[in-house]
Amino acid sequence: MIKHTTVTNAEITKKYKEFLYPAVITYYQEPLPLVAGLGCHVYDAEGRQYLDFFGGILTVSVGHSNEKVLAGTIAQLKKLQHVSTLYPTAPAAELAERLAGITPGELKKSFFTSSGTEADETAVLTAQHYTGAQEIIALRHSYSGRSVLAMNLTAHAPWRVSRTLVPGIHHAHAPYCYRCPFKLQYPACDLACARDLEELIQTETCGKIAAFLAEPILGVGGFVVPPKEYFKVAVDIVHKYGGLFIADEVQTGWGRTGGKWFGIEQFGVIPDIMTSAKGMANGIPIGWTVTTAKIADGLKGLTISTFGGNPVSCAAAHATIDYIEEENIVANVTKMGAHLRNELLAMQKEFPCIGDVRGMGLMLGVEIVADRKTKAPDAKAVVKIFEETKKEGLLIGKGGLYGNVLRISPPMNVMTGEIDAAAKILRKAFAKI
Ligand SMILES: Cc1ncc(COP(=O)(O)O)c(C=O)c1O
Repeated sequence: MIKHTTVTNAEITKKYKEFLYPAVITYYQEPLPLVAGLGCHVYDAEGRQYLDFFGGILTVSVGHSNEKVLAGTIAQLKKLQHVSTLYPTAPAAELAERLAGITPGELKKSFFTSSGTEADETAVLTAQHYTGAQEIIALRHSYSGRSVLAMNLTAHAPWRVSRTLVPGIHHAHAPYCYRCPFKLQYPACDLACARDLEELIQTETCGKIAAFLAEPILGVGGFVVPPKEYFKVAVDIVHKYGGLFIADEVQTGWGRTGGKWFGIEQFGVIPDIMTSAKGMANGIPIGWTVTTAKIADGLKGLTISTFGGNPVSCAAAHATIDYIEEENIVANVTKMGAHLRNELLAMQKEFPCIGDVRGMGLMLGVEIVADRKTKAPDAKAVVKIFEETKKEGLLIGKGGLYGNVLRISPPMNVMTGEIDAAAKILRKAFAKI
C-alpha cells in the first residue's frame, strides 16, 4: 500500500457531503474517495489499490497518468494556457485538421467545447439552423447530458431532473433486443424499431425534422447494441423527412468499440454530424462537434465558447490520439474486448443472475436479472455485486433504466493480466448472489 496523501477517506467524504450538492451522487454505500491513479489502477486515501474498470465513465481512455498524454499536456500548460475562441491557436487548429483526417466521410469542420452536453447542444443547434426545422428525434434509454435541452433529450426518468420542458423532442423505440419493445426476435423482427421511426415522424411531428440524435451503442442505457442494419434503415427514414443524423460518440469514440475510431463506423453509416467528449483527451475536459463544411455554414449568428478549443485540452486530445495511433490501441481493444467477453460469457453459463452479456470492444454490459425467464431486473443484486467487487479491489460502472446493468469499460490499453484479475473478482462476486 502506498499512501498518496495525509488526509483520510473519512475526512474527504465528510467534507464532500458537507459542501457539495447532495444531488451529486456517488457510488457505494460508503463513498470511495480516490487520490491517485496510474495505468488501470486508482488508489484511495488509505493507499488501497483498485482496478479501475470504469475509467471515470469511459473517459480515462489510455490509462491514468499516461506518460505521453502528460508530457503533451504539461508542455502546452507551460506555453499557453488559455485565450478563448476569440483567438486562433495552433493546438486547436492542428487538432481540428487531425480530426478531419480520421472522421468518416466529409466531416471536416470542428466546434470545440468542454463537455458532451455542450457537444450535443451544438449539434442540435447546427441541425436546426441548417434544416430550418426544429423537431428532434432521440432514442428511449438514451442519455445526452445535463443542460435543460440535454435532459429533455435524455430518456431515463431519473436523469430528467429539469423542470423546464423543451417542446419538439420525440423519443423513438430503442433497438434494445434483450427487452424488445415490440416483443419480437431479431432478425425475424425486420428491424421493427427502426421502421417505426417513419410512423413516429408522420404522427408526432409536423412531418419535417431537424435531426435524429442517437448513440451508436446506448451507454447510460446499459451498453445496448443495435442490430447491425439498424442505423442504415433508421437514417434512410430520417433523411427522407429532411433530418440530419447526429451520432453521439461521447462514449463510443476513440476506438472504444474496437478496430475503428468511431462506434458508428461499425454500422456502415456516415453521420451528418458527430459529437464526442469523455475519452477524447483522457480526462482533460473537452467537447467536440464535427460536421461537413456545408452544414457548418448553416449555423448563422454569433457564438463563442470561453473554454472551447482551450489549448491545453486540445494538446491533451492530440497526445491521446497520438498514443491510440502509435500503440495501435484499437487492435488492443478488439483483442482484450474478446478476452473479457469470453470470460463474461463463461460466467453467464455458471451464474443464473446474468441475463445478458453484450457490448462491443471494451464496452461490455452484463444485465443482472432475478429470473432469466421473466427477465425481472435485479438492481439489489447489482448493489451487492458493487460492494463485493469494491471489497476485492475492482471498480465497475452501472447503468440501464432499472439500474441493473454492470458497465465494464477499462482503459483501452488494459492488458490480459488485469482482465484476468478483474474476472476473478467478478466471478467471486457473482457467486455470492
Ligand atoms: C452519450 C452521452 N452523451 C452526452 C453525455 C454528456 O456528457 P457530459 O457529462 O460530458 O456533459 C454523456 C455523459 O455521460 C453521454 O454518455
